Amino acid sequence: MNIIETTNYSTLSEKAAILIFNQIKSNPRLVLGAATGDTPKGTYEQLVNRVKREGLNLSNINTVNLDEYVGLNAIHPQSYWNYMQENLYTPLNLSKDQAFIPDGTAVDLEDECDKYEQRIERIGGIDLQILGIGRNGHIGFNEPFTSFSSRTHIVTLTESTRKANARFFSNIKEVPTRAITMGISTIMKSKSIVLLASGEGKAAAVDKLLSGKVDPAWPATILNEHPNVTLIVDNAAKNR
Ligand code: GLP
Repeated sequence: MNIIETTNYSTLSEKAAILIFNQIKSNPRLVLGAATGDTPKGTYEQLVNRVKREGLNLSNINTVNLDEYVGLNAIHPQSYWNYMQENLYTPLNLSKDQAFIPDGTAVDLEDECDKYEQRIERIGGIDLQILGIGRNGHIGFNEPFTSFSSRTHIVTLTESTRKANARFFSNIKEVPTRAITMGISTIMKSKSIVLLASGEGKAAAVDKLLSGKVDPAWPATILNEHPNVTLIVDNAAKNR
């Protein structure tokens, strides 16, 4: 694993944005796997600024998101579609044909999972997957003990994840109980992965990852078996 340690969140965001920018520059048809949450916001902001400053053409990239809440439609303020619209699609002028997120309101959710896997394959697989990390080590919404061979699937969110994400809603009751997420094997098929970890709340999960041992209780530890992972971590999230 390649580890980039930074002193603070802003530098972490800058390093990640430069890495994504350079990958798009060398591969204008890049398939970018995108993540949500607070952590990648700074990265997206800096990426948008850099793309605008340098006039990078993004008309041939595709983006695919890790996950979406079940039951929230695209215009719900806390849907991941809405998050992506605000943080990336609108500022980068990406069209609907370039941006894919699982549909958490699909009538047949199992079918939506299959279709999502097919969509990823159809556009050539993910070249660069951006990941955040949950306090309990989840990636996407793959909670502890999710099968490492899982494909896109429906998950029941743990109480700890719902609590952690309650800050985005007016109260915890509004946090959906289920989500649709790329599986761990879907994520592991990405050609390269960049994991962003910031703040002391992530230190335990980062510590498990850096132990080098793969432990199903901490899903991110599977990344130790991927050949091309870069961890960008700030001091607060790194004890080791
Ligand atoms: C959510 C998302 C994850 C994200 C995690 C951490 O659960 N599904 O993809 O990595 O939150 O989010 P944050 O960066 O806000 O701590």
